[in-house]
Amino acid sequence: MKALVLAGGAGTRLRPITHTSAKQLVPVANKPVLFYGLESIAEAGITDVGIVVGDTAREIRQAVGDGSAFGLNITYLPQEAPLGLAHAVLIAREYLGDDDFVMYLGDNFLIGGITDLVEPFRVERPAAQIMLTKVSDPRAFGVAELGMEGRLVGLEEKPAEPRSDLALIGIYLFTPAVHDVVADLKPSGRGELEITHAISGLLDAGHRVATTITEGYWKDTGSVADMLQVNQLVLEQMDPGVQGDVVDSELIGRVAVAPGAVVRASRIVGPAVIGPGTVVEDSYLGPFTSVAEDCQITDSEVEYSVVLRGAAIRGVRRIEASLIGHEVEVTPAPRTPRAHRLVLGDHSKVQICAYS
Ligand code: G1P
Repeated sequence: MKALVLAGGAGTRLRPITHTSAKQLVPVANKPVLFYGLESIAEAGITDVGIVVGDTAREIRQAVGDGSAFGLNITYLPQEAPLGLAHAVLIAREYLGDDDFVMYLGDNFLIGGITDLVEPFRVERPAAQIMLTKVSDPRAFGVAELGMEGRLVGLEEKPAEPRSDLALIGIYLFTPAVHDVVADLKPSGRGELEITHAISGLLDAGHRVATTITEGYWKDTGSVADMLQVNQLVLEQMDPGVQGDVVDSELIGRVAVAPGAVVRASRIVGPAVIGPGTVVEDSYLGPFTSVAEDCQITDSEVEYSVVLRGAAIRGVRRIEASLIGHEVEVTPAPRTPRAHRLVLGDHSKVQICAYS
């Protein structure tokens, strides 16, 4: 069995972060979201992994390398344009050969891994096995309609009027039967080869499509709000530990301070993680905050946020529910206390305190 991991796509809902970085590499508790997926694949006993890459191929290759760090053997499969999930299967046809495979969307995050899904599939080998979960707004997802005994009756991609609240999780299992259907697919209204159409095609051709409804925690980390929630969940379960220097400071609850990090005259209320080379001084870090490597947080308050590599926050209170990009600087405006002075990249989003 092989795995096909999708790590292309534009990541428009995470702009401007995704102007310079792949959405699959945004860190959750200081580790790229993609790595959690690769770890689950390795845990399920799969070693051959094809990663479909697009415009951000260089960064993905740089982060994942040959896969040996995960115990995986990785092949990169360039996709010339994001033409749909089924298009990724189409271009991977030769790589996948006659093997069964799990297709894993690189921005999906599933607690508990995929071993429980993969094991019965290996034995029963339905043409496809999909995972569903109840969501409050199914319109953002593929939506399944189930009939008698939980049998799949239909699938619709992002329907305006969903027939159920069961969303299709971005982790699918296939036998090579899918390739015949994919070869005949036509682009959808949004110009993509849809995986939902491929699965419906399998049903129409009389194949069995098995469904599993999971109650486990799942998120598609496509937006900032989802990213922050996943970060919260992972931090809640993280092992705390202080390896860096903590001086004249108070650490409360689950706090991880990486080697080479310095926390001075500060109060950190966990769960929170501070990356290597980061300095936190005269500051407060609140619950559910991840600060990546080589950041500087001075005389500031940051809570429920993700701060990426090399960012500097000085003299600011208080930052909440924020995603701060690489090398970003946030400071007060000098001598113009009532003004906001902004240098924002394209598609940045800023919410300024209404009372200042
Ligand atoms: C894709 C699929 C959709 C699925 C979702 C899960 O949508 O097309 O059926 O429910 O992933 O993450 P996308 O997020 O690529 O728009």
